[in-house]
Amino acid sequence: MTDNPSGTHGAVLKDSAPAEGGPLVELRGAGKSYGNIRALHGVDLQVHAGRVTCVLGDNGAGKSTLIKIISGLHRHTEGDFLVDGRPVRFATPREALDRGIATVYQDLATVPLMPVWRNFFLGSEMTRGPWPVRRLDIARMKATADRELRNMGIALDDLEQPIGTLSGGQRQCVAIARAVYFGARVLILDEPTAALGVKQSGVVLKYIAAARDRGLGVIFITHNPHHAYMVGDHFSVLRLGTLELSADRSEIGLEELTNHMAGGAELAALKHELAQVRGVDVEELPEESDLTAPVATSPEGTP
Ligand SMILES: Nc1ncnc2c1ncn2[C@@H]1O[C@H](COP(=O)(O)OP(=O)(O)OP(=O)(O)O)[C@@H](O)[C@H]1O
Ligand SMILES: [Mg+2]
Repeated sequence: MTDNPSGTHGAVLKDSAPAEGGPLVELRGAGKSYGNIRALHGVDLQVHAGRVTCVLGDNGAGKSTLIKIISGLHRHTEGDFLVDGRPVRFATPREALDRGIATVYQDLATVPLMPVWRNFFLGSEMTRGPWPVRRLDIARMKATADRELRNMGIALDDLEQPIGTLSGGQRQCVAIARAVYFGARVLILDEPTAALGVKQSGVVLKYIAAARDRGLGVIFITHNPHHAYMVGDHFSVLRLGTLELSADRSEIGLEELTNHMAGGAELAALKHELAQVRGVDVEELPEESDLTAPVATSPEGTP
């Protein structure tokens, strides 16, 4: 654990209990309705220290709803939500943070024109001197941000540069390092690679693995089974608000996971829709059964 020198930032771990090998966070038959829209229903999920739990699913599957419950933004309306084995009901995200549950949202809450080190401490600035002459401890914040980023293996040339000049991937990495520094035990990442290219996605995946190796329980939300499979220890696939698959890495291969995501039935429906559109050769699209098969060679007699 990193040192967390006294400053004005809150004690993140204030009332957390040791997990003793049990899950840090657990959902049992959890669900959420918005009025009469049932966004999530009957979901079981366990998040363990030192493991990456991937939550996959198509648009509208309920991924964001799930993490909003865990991060304290929304209250579940059915089932149980437990932290360190005890049922909880967070009123605010602050309460979740106090239990060590940190969320990195895709639209990162950073101030683009402020330097990197300033964003690292945003809302939890270090100060020095007694009240009323207390001032920001700029030197200590710069040195700490520099050390923490290096500890995570994140090399930035200049922490004075505005965070807005960093790439999307680099900003995600700063947010991950920040959560680790402020004592997160559970790190939730909502589609951190969705807007990134191949290389930057690789960098973010590397820091997800680094956070896991530091013993955090990571919840990694993604559309991309390939990204999930590169770092995941467990895979939970949501479909229309319910859990359609929950499997450990030892129980499922990338191909099968991709198949679950692609949704054979939905592909068939899409093919039917596309058949109505001129200029799309649906014969060239894969059959449902081809999704797990090796790439088919052209049958005899076709040009
Ligand atoms: N505040 C809300 N009020 C009413 N319905 C909502 C609300 N938030 C989400 N929903 C509905 O709940 C369902 C699940 O939405 P959710 O945002 O959790 O999906 P998602 O898996 O995160 O999708 P995406 O990949 O598009 O982000 C959707 O049908 C959505 O319309
Ligand atoms: Mg979402």
